[in-house]
Amino acid sequence: MCPPKNFVVEYAINAWMDTAVPVDTELAVKQWAQLRDGVADLGHTVHLLTPGDGLPDMVFAANGAFSVDGAVYGAQFKYPQRAAEADSHREFYLDRPDEWRFVAPTETNEGEGDFTFVPDAHGGLILAGYGFRTEPAAHAEAQEVLGRPVISLKLVDPRFYHLDTALAALTDDNIIYYPPAFSESSRAMLRQLFPDAVIATETDALGFGLNLVSDGLNVFLNTECTALADRLAAEGFRPVLFDLSELKKGGGSVKCCMAELRA
Ligand code: ARG
Repeated sequence: MCPPKNFVVEYAINAWMDTAVPVDTELAVKQWAQLRDGVADLGHTVHLLTPGDGLPDMVFAANGAFSVDGAVYGAQFKYPQRAAEADSHREFYLDRPDEWRFVAPTETNEGEGDFTFVPDAHGGLILAGYGFRTEPAAHAEAQEVLGRPVISLKLVDPRFYHLDTALAALTDDNIIYYPPAFSESSRAMLRQLFPDAVIATETDALGFGLNLVSDGLNVFLNTECTALADRLAAEGFRPVLFDLSELKKGGGSVKCCMAELRA
């Protein structure tokens, strides 16, 4: 019913971006390990990426690449602090040439932070965000590399600076999203393409509730989002909750920590 998935995550947490909010590094590593183990315990394969020196945000592995059907579109980070992370992700795929066809980007894009794939929606759609990090030109480039239609969605609220803070695939053909994070036109497109989407509240979105990973049955999300977890349970999903309070201080939650590998 729910085929196991593949993910790539970084294997440790070495530093943090927001020095104004102290992070308990030991607790952060513990929380991250619980997430890694929790996903693996439910039958998914988790690959680990070696952390890079001086790359405090590398724990947010979602941003390093985006794959569909064995093709991988590499990331090109907006800010120099994260630029070198793309190299580690690229190496991961280039080391496995039988499994992956890696294509280096020429346009700024932050991988699965701004791209997601809904395989059974309209024959397979890539949803892509722009407005804060990823450039629209990268959407066109991803479409060429991955050979799937890309729907460009404009993010308009700086609190939701990556697509994966405002929208997630819940099943192979449906999504959950927070409409006010998107421009009027983008909301209209989402309504047209996903009339049965689950609509999230501001509380869900602000608690990083949309920064979730779903295998179609189990929905991995953070413990803070109890109301959303109850709603998802009522819809037949199994919420699996993780306390990621320390990772939240770095600007991410469940989804930010893992890139899905779509062979
Ligand atoms: N501090 C990180 C950044 O600003 C957070 C990244 C969150 N990742 C994500 N996939 N939304 O880049």
